[in-house]
Amino acid sequence: MRYPPEFLDEIRARLSVSQVVGRSVSLQRRGREFVGLSPFNKERTPSFTVNDEKGFYHCFSSQEHGDIFTFLMKTQGLSFAEAVERLAGEAGLEVPKETEQAREQSRHRADALTALEGACRFFQAELKSAGGRPALDYLRSRGLDDDAVETFRLGFAPADSQALLKALAGIGIGEELAIAAGLARKPDDGRAAYSFFRNRVVFPVADARDRVVGFGARLMAGDGPKYINSADSPLFQKGQLLYGLSRARRAAHDGAPVIVAEGYMDVIALVRAGFNGAVAPLGTAFTEHQAQLIWRFCRDPVVCFDGDDAGRAAAGRAAERLLPLLRPDHTVKVALLPAGQDPDDLIRGHGPRAMAEVIGAARSLADVIWDLECARHHLTTPEGRAGLQAALEAQAGRIADATVARFYRQEFTERVRRAFQPAAADAGRPGERRPWRPARRGARPNAAPRGPRPSRSAAAGLAPERLILAALLADPRRFEAMAEQIGELVYEHPDDIAAHRALCSALMQHPDLDSSALSDHFAQIGLEETVARIGERIRAEGVDWLAGTAAPEQLDDAWQRAWRVVEVRRIERELADVSRTLRERPSAAVLARQQALLAQRDRYRQMDGA
Ligand code: UTP
Ligand code: MN
Repeated sequence: MRYPPEFLDEIRARLSVSQVVGRSVSLQRRGREFVGLSPFNKERTPSFTVNDEKGFYHCFSSQEHGDIFTFLMKTQGLSFAEAVERLAGEAGLEVPKETEQAREQSRHRADALTALEGACRFFQAELKSAGGRPALDYLRSRGLDDDAVETFRLGFAPADSQALLKALAGIGIGEELAIAAGLARKPDDGRAAYSFFRNRVVFPVADARDRVVGFGARLMAGDGPKYINSADSPLFQKGQLLYGLSRARRAAHDGAPVIVAEGYMDVIALVRAGFNGAVAPLGTAFTEHQAQLIWRFCRDPVVCFDGDDAGRAAAGRAAERLLPLLRPDHTVKVALLPAGQDPDDLIRGHGPRAMAEVIGAARSLADVIWDLECARHHLTTPEGRAGLQAALEAQAGRIADATVARFYRQEFTERVRRAFQPAAADAGRPGERRPWRPARRGARPNAAPRGPRPSRSAAAGLAPERLILAALLADPRRFEAMAEQIGELVYEHPDDIAAHRALCSALMQHPDLDSSALSDHFAQIGLEETVARIGERIRAEGVDWLAGTAAPEQLDDAWQRAWRVVEVRRIERELADVSRTLRERPSAAVLARQQALLAQRDRYRQMDGA
């Protein structure tokens, strides 16, 4: 029977996991969790943890994971109903009696599921029959082999509008049931019922428990909508399902990233390329409900969009829609694909690595909102900047969770401050005063420093981010190998921000641009002057050799140094966190992490003789 979710929640609220588990496993409190020896594996060191706040147990040695109900099912061999009965008793609750209506409903549901599974098998068999040849050829032409056809249970709905109904009748499923399951329609004018999916390749859609609940179907050729999907019904609610959901959930537990693509073919291509966390909505936009669904097993799914203008606009809209829902530790990231390509195209054209890079370069929601608002305001006037600030505040204000909203506000305020502070203050960060340097030999008063400066310290005064930007402008081929890290760099000066953003998006799509093609591109999008100003500012730092006159080793050396500085800063940020944890909740693990970070930082510093 189906228990009301509120009833199960009430049992969970009354019985803690540690209380239920603690009867058969001896547990020790450790911070917010309990630990003990795994009941699933023989072991000497405890790898089994219980978290009462989150309401689950997790076993690191066996990957078992679940709540109080699954615990009894797994350790005592109870059925779900038996576990519910037992725990309801302990919680002092009575199991609700199933109403006649509820029983009726669940019978209907079971019948519909039988019909859907029957249809799925029929479509699968049709694909392998002589009549399914064109469909199979079509799938082959799209790079799918027998293995893919099996795994995704792909099928073919024949053109004959009676074929499915006949086949279902043969296994005892009548017309009415086929209609109720969304497989057939009956015209009002008394003509015979006919199959809804005809002459299409069929993609079965399963629910979280891997039961077929509906279909998507693609036209192979000719006119008509490219895809049609089962109509919404109690079993098939498009906004609450995702193609690939149950596989993605398993993959996420094994640490795979969850990737939200746009369609069926994308999910199949992604999974075949090894991205088992791939899911897609069913012909609708990615909904809030679908985000909540994913958040149950993954904190930061990556939502993919086409990198063209329409795709970017869609990404912005999705970010705005999801913003209010953010919770502590729950977010989404946004990945932009090369313009005009979906994951299927990208993987077919450039392989899984290219896809991995796109995923790696996914941006945070805060970044996406920042970009969106920066594009909506004139950043060159005080009024425009004020407008930007106000809009960002309004965006942060839409976040329901007060803590997340506060951090967004803080983040945006800081970004605005950094972006528009006067140029003089821009050269160093607070607390990071630049050392005084003696005037260099040969420098004449009033003459800007010029000429190659081969020493390693040539670019010492330049912020590493800016040096990286300069090196990329001089040699864009450096981008590809470091795309992910480059995407994460934060710039402070509006010129740098604009150039960095344009550069990333251009090189993400065309990694092979050389520096002259890149500067043409900048000219086309109106950034010529911006880039010229950046060049001037860099020359003022005495490193005009970056503009193209440098020896390759010199450039390499400066490049690596800059990245070490970036890395040292990241380490220092983490160190600050770790040191705070160490004061508040000291433990051997945290101490070890601190030591490792310190050692790593010192190694980098030594390399640069600092
Ligand atoms: P697209 O039309 O963008 O995908 O549909 P595509 O890459 O060109 O399709 P393929 O690769 O040629 O097969 C993306 C998704 O949008 C839904 C489907 O879920 C599809 O997978 N869709 C698209 C519909 O529901 N109806 C349509 O008419 C078109
Ligand atoms: Mn496609």
